[in-house]
Amino acid sequence: MTRLWGGRFASGPSDAMAALSESVQFDWVLAPYDIAQSKAHARVLHNAGLLSQAELDTMIAGLTELNSRVESGDFLPTPADEDVHTALERGLIETIGTEVGGKLRAGRSRNDQVSTDLRMFLRNSARGIATHVGHLQNALLTQAKNHVDSAAPGFTHLQHAQPVSFGHELAKHIHAFARDIERLQDWDKRAAKSPMGSGALAGSSLKLDPVAVATELGFDGIVENSIDGVSDRDFVAEFLFSTALIGVHLSRLGEEICLWASREFGWATLDDAWSTGSSIMPQKKNPDVAELARGKSGRLIGHVTSVLTVLKGLPFAYNRDLQEDKESVIDAIHTLQLVLPAMTGCVGTLVFDTAKMAESAPQGFALATDIAEWLVQQGVPFNHAHEVAGACVKVAEAEGIELDELSDEQFSAIDPALTGDVRSVLTVAGSLASRSTVNGTAPDSVRLQLANVEGVLAAQESWANAKPHAV
Ligand code: ARG
Repeated sequence: MTRLWGGRFASGPSDAMAALSESVQFDWVLAPYDIAQSKAHARVLHNAGLLSQAELDTMIAGLTELNSRVESGDFLPTPADEDVHTALERGLIETIGTEVGGKLRAGRSRNDQVSTDLRMFLRNSARGIATHVGHLQNALLTQAKNHVDSAAPGFTHLQHAQPVSFGHELAKHIHAFARDIERLQDWDKRAAKSPMGSGALAGSSLKLDPVAVATELGFDGIVENSIDGVSDRDFVAEFLFSTALIGVHLSRLGEEICLWASREFGWATLDDAWSTGSSIMPQKKNPDVAELARGKSGRLIGHVTSVLTVLKGLPFAYNRDLQEDKESVIDAIHTLQLVLPAMTGCVGTLVFDTAKMAESAPQGFALATDIAEWLVQQGVPFNHAHEVAGACVKVAEAEGIELDELSDEQFSAIDPALTGDVRSVLTVAGSLASRSTVNGTAPDSVRLQLANVEGVLAAQESWANAKPHAV
């Protein structure tokens, strides 16, 4: 049995102690990163004169062989291995013997090792998440392009507010997810620092070269303070905030899909492959993908809360509490790997009832603002125009008609500035076309916005495709 400590102990740990301590059942995902890091560490040991050329060659060959055995599943951790680092040291010593294998641990500690491994794992995983987000954005983009000219009611307070292009409505989600990827890119600048060389907390006397290790491993630089190097988990908390916000964005999209697919809205039909039935009600077709996306945002938010709580008030430097960081990030990544492809499939196959949306677009006096803005263009101050448009709503509501059905006499009785010409803006198409600010809902503006965001998606896709750590 390999244990990375024990000289000063008369007995081994009790079973319950070992069970509590063990992390190998989840930290095994770090194995390829730990091996890559060991190779880089072996090279600096050699350059510091602590490993001969022959020993280095043996070590690198042994680590390469161990890596293949890990990849093929031929080498697996056992419950007796406390963690991934212990299991891999056992594997190396089994492969090349203790004479050379036992030299690898010099000058490093699991404290700097684990933080380095986790940064590498998360940096590559961030690209994987960005790729999945990109697929969802592309599904939204295709739908948005097809619905630029489809009018729909736009909401505030879940009440009809003003008509919008449905493409504009769909595209808002693309922008939220683009910010999520941008957030990961920004996070990556801070995560790209290697803590190697920190040792247990104070650095090393062995003339190691942390910059060489960092460069070989694909980092941009090193953490400058060894105590910070082993205690900092900001990169975990920030990563988890980013995944929680992706979860929140997925949940808001999910909520919209649930509403759109409801009988009351009747705007969207779910594809059979992306919905489920009921065990008792034969007619049911439920938006489970959207609901699970909404529900799973809860655990993503829980993970960031959990890690912040572990970090709060923790004394410096390393404490075993920090082992609690890993299950949260592993689950966050796994959760997004499940949800994002399903949401992509669900969104890509939604069929929208554009006639129903268009019919509903002007309802609820959604063109009242158009009356007010028409009056402003006639020189009426907005505060008065707002009152006048409100009075139009009052009359129309009392008569059970829509705004464009008010007669010329009714308009002029409400206010002399109001003439029948106002009907020119009381159409949905006119209302949409008039909102032509660069970020507005006019279909021509939306087409430009979609072309711009498509460029952003392409740039983010190339970032996602370039993994910083080769494993
Ligand atoms: N399994 C530990 C973790 O995940 C590795 C570091 C252990 N260090 C120590 N000094 N016990 O944090």
